[in-house]
Amino acid sequence: MVIGVLKEAGAGETRVAATPATVQQLLKLGYDVVVQAGAGDASSFADAAFEEAGASIGDPLSADIVFGINAPAKEQLDGLKQGATLISLLSPRLDQSIVDDLAKRPITAMSMDAVPRISRAQSLDVLSSMANIAGYRAVVEAAHTYGRFFTGQVTAAGKVNPANVLVCGVGVAGLAAIGAAGSLGAIVRATDPRPEVADQVKSLGGEYLSVESAEAEVSSTGYAKEMSDDYNTLAARLYAEQCKTVDIIITTALIPGRPAPTLITADMVASMKPGSVIVDMAAANGGNVEGTVKGESVVTDNGVTIIGYTDLAGRLPAQASQLYGTNLVNLMKLMTPEKDGVLVLDFDDVVQRGMTVVRDGELTWPPPEVQVSAAPAAPAAAPVEKPAPPEPMSDEKRLGIVLGAALVFFLLAANAPAALIPRLTVFALAIVVGYYVIGHVHHALHTPLMSVTNAISGIIVVGGLLQIGHHDGAITAVSTVAILLASINIFGGFAVTRRMLAMFSRS
Ligand SMILES: NC(=O)c1ccc[n+]([C@@H]2O[C@H](COP(=O)([O-])OP(=O)(O)OC[C@H]3O[C@@H](n4cnc5c(N)ncnc54)[C@H](O)[C@@H]3O)[C@@H](O)[C@H]2O)c1
Repeated sequence: MVIGVLKEAGAGETRVAATPATVQQLLKLGYDVVVQAGAGDASSFADAAFEEAGASIGDPLSADIVFGINAPAKEQLDGLKQGATLISLLSPRLDQSIVDDLAKRPITAMSMDAVPRISRAQSLDVLSSMANIAGYRAVVEAAHTYGRFFTGQVTAAGKVNPANVLVCGVGVAGLAAIGAAGSLGAIVRATDPRPEVADQVKSLGGEYLSVESAEAEVSSTGYAKEMSDDYNTLAARLYAEQCKTVDIIITTALIPGRPAPTLITADMVASMKPGSVIVDMAAANGGNVEGTVKGESVVTDNGVTIIGYTDLAGRLPAQASQLYGTNLVNLMKLMTPEKDGVLVLDFDDVVQRGMTVVRDGELTWPPPEVQVSAAPAAPAAAPVEKPAPPEPMSDEKRLGIVLGAALVFFLLAANAPAALIPRLTVFALAIVVGYYVIGHVHHALHTPLMSVTNAISGIIVVGGLLQIGHHDGAITAVSTVAILLASINIFGGFAVTRRMLAMFSRS
């Protein structure tokens, strides 16, 4: 079968649905590829580069499968051949007119923005790959507009404080923004109604600001729900405080299928320092900030710039085309089970079913709901009470143990032959030192500690072997027990390590 790659008809679209690198992967799956002349110009992929990769330059509408970024223009749709499969961003949830139009055509149409957000479909999830790029670009836009460094410096000309960045909404775009702002040296704080993201924020070097509302709870779907007035009031208090101190705000709050929630009010913007920058990533969906103008950058009376660009991913066109093209290659891998260049649409697969709007001229939209689950569902049973932590040992008890041990030692020393006393002393001291050294090792370091104990066990085995042939039966018995116990420790250590390593290996 032949895959055609469209030159985007929409003004301002810089991306292309294939790159020379993805063309090579499509050829390996058995397809031929035809690219429309000039399709990659805006993203720095020349026609010659496509030809070198093995594609031909020609009419993509004559192909069996047609790749695009956005919904094709009417003339392009009219030019599709009967039975063709169109794959692009069609926004069927937001635009009923495109669904009605496609339903009248004898084609199959699949929408890349309808890929269910489940783990198995992550490699085709265009919304995530574009949000990732957009989150990064949002920080680049903010840094470009902000008239100062992001990182703190001590220079001969004086000290420079680092920029303070607040990220509202910690989904894909929010995490990318936290990572990018942190790597530029800013101090980053972030908030989200889903407390499960706190660890992700921390792992990127940010500080998680929680809204202390009973409503903030681990979500079972990975998405936030629309928040109550109680939550919104407490969140507004947090934003009002933050706005007075931060220099940059990046808002990404989104609830699927709903208009974007307003997080930053005009009063809060008015309380920000002149020169501060807000990037409202939700501008296309109504905006998270009062005063955002969709697609534009505006400056408020108090000198705060609000950026409402809706094409942030397209502002990194080569990168966005590469990731979008790779998402399409991954879809083709899924739909070409024999790697023979023949597309097979499997409606038993929730991913393929979920993104199909029309199949062979038959309307299949909306698809059945897919249960997405980013976090394990909360157990239905009553919460199990955690066992109370063990009581710390009292000082009296500790003193009693020490005195008892000292008494035993003196009794042993008084009755032992003179040659044994130095060894007993070393033994007693080893117990004391070992207790303090090992007792203060953090739990997380017990595994490396095990290798040390393995080494000690090895010494015991050698000692035991040297003593085992002794004519005294008691010494032979003690040596045997020592060798046995030390061996259990060594082999047990290896078995535990093996199990732990297996947890990290792919099956
Ligand atoms: N401007 C652009 O060019 C561009 C490009 C790509 C994505 N986007 C937009 O960026 C936004 C984020 O995309 P994403 O893929 O990261 O979405 P996502 O679903 O992964 O993340 C959205 C986050 O917002 C959080 N949220 C919901 N309600 C909130 C509230 N009241 N307060 C704070 N946080 C709240 C959610 O918990 C979630 O973590 C979307 O609006 C998307 O349309 C814009």
